[in-house]
Amino acid sequence: MQSVKAGIVGLGGRGIGLLKQLVKMKDVDIVSVCDLYEDRTKEGADIVQKAKKVRPFETTDYKDVLDEKKIDVLFIFCSWEDHIKLAVEAMEKGIKVGLEVGGAYSVDDCWALVDTYEKTGTPVMMLENCCYGKYELMVLNMVRQGLFGDVVHCAGGYQHDLRKEITHGKENRHYRLNNYLNRNCENYPTHELGPIAKVLDINRGNVMVNLTSTSSCAKGLKQYVKDGKTSNPDLVGAEFKQGDIVTTVIKCKNGETITLTLDTTLPRSYSRGFTVRGTKAMYQEDNNMLFEDGRFILYEFYGKPLWNNGRKYLRKYMHPIWRWYKKKGVRGGHGGMDYLVLRAFIEAVQNGTHMPIDVYDTASWMVITPLSEISIKEGSTPQAIPDFTRGKYQNRTDKAQGLYNIDK
Ligand SMILES: NC(=O)c1ccc[n+]([C@@H]2O[C@H](COP(=O)([O-])OP(=O)(O)OC[C@H]3O[C@@H](n4cnc5c(N)ncnc54)[C@H](O)[C@@H]3O)[C@@H](O)[C@H]2O)c1
Repeated sequence: MQSVKAGIVGLGGRGIGLLKQLVKMKDVDIVSVCDLYEDRTKEGADIVQKAKKVRPFETTDYKDVLDEKKIDVLFIFCSWEDHIKLAVEAMEKGIKVGLEVGGAYSVDDCWALVDTYEKTGTPVMMLENCCYGKYELMVLNMVRQGLFGDVVHCAGGYQHDLRKEITHGKENRHYRLNNYLNRNCENYPTHELGPIAKVLDINRGNVMVNLTSTSSCAKGLKQYVKDGKTSNPDLVGAEFKQGDIVTTVIKCKNGETITLTLDTTLPRSYSRGFTVRGTKAMYQEDNNMLFEDGRFILYEFYGKPLWNNGRKYLRKYMHPIWRWYKKKGVRGGHGGMDYLVLRAFIEAVQNGTHMPIDVYDTASWMVITPLSEISIKEGSTPQAIPDFTRGKYQNRTDKAQGLYNIDK
């Protein structure tokens, strides 16, 4: 297979982590690396040189990445603020985009992604690794086989205690601090919404039509600073705008509902809370439990013996992607799903096939953030979610081919 020539923008924690995976791939050449910080750019270049024996082009200006070397793809691993600007500029130049996750800052920005794709034909794929999670895919496989009956409701969350990462944002040069000081919204919807959208066939026979978002007060970070757990003196007495828990309820065209929870500034253990409720079964990630109608009647009031029975279901319902992957050898970060999402993008580029997470998915998942911000500001008012497919969702035939396809 022909090698893909890639440029990378953004070499913070995530960028360096993914770069270390990319340099192990024989069919990927990293020809340019870029970060606003010179030391991070150099660290990235050193990694490429060590692995590939060729030093890539180094720059602190992303425009050079688009212009200096001929690249087939741009990996955008930088902070959220510049995601869409960079993606649009790359697509205008015919460079295909692999975009790290994060919410958008305006509805217009999401339309810009779609408009640019439709004008140029250059694809963008959100690299939503959780769409390739082992259990998310097992449940998707079961839904497709009809085991859940009709799916009626899904829920999930980004439930991750980020107090240390946020409050050490100045020392670590991390973008989240600024966002938490200045915005209040569902700022990270896609880890849970991505897999849910695939379960509900969003943008393929179904669309999300409106949402409401409600925010709690913001006390977690203030308490953390008060307890002396950060060394940044600027944060003493600081007011954080971001509420501790943001709950977003989405209504879909075909009648289903989705609940998203952003929960990142109070003590807790990590969970994406992936939950699928159908007329025949339920799954919930928090205790990795499947409950099938008619089968587990004895456990209606005492479900503990069923906890972690998801593992048993893997034997029969593990998604074909994961069966193949286990044989090949699971690798890379986040339990292996980072590798899968990178390969899904790279192989779609090589084969010239449709992206498994395409521009309509990317725009409709990212738009939750600015819409939730407006809803919260206006006292939880309903906000219409644009149909980025402009009605095409009713009858689409374009879809990804091969192993990595996760659409029906
Ligand atoms: N999918 C996952 O599991 C996962 C995990 C962690 C982070 N992420 C995503 O990865 C992205 C980066 O997160 P991070 O934790 O590495 O953040 P970070 O703050 O550690 O790194 C971001 C880097 O981007 C650079 N940058 C920002 N704007 C730039 C520009 N215009 N040109 C060049 N460089 C620029 C910054 O200098 C910084 O080094 C975010 O979108 C985040 O949501 C995804």
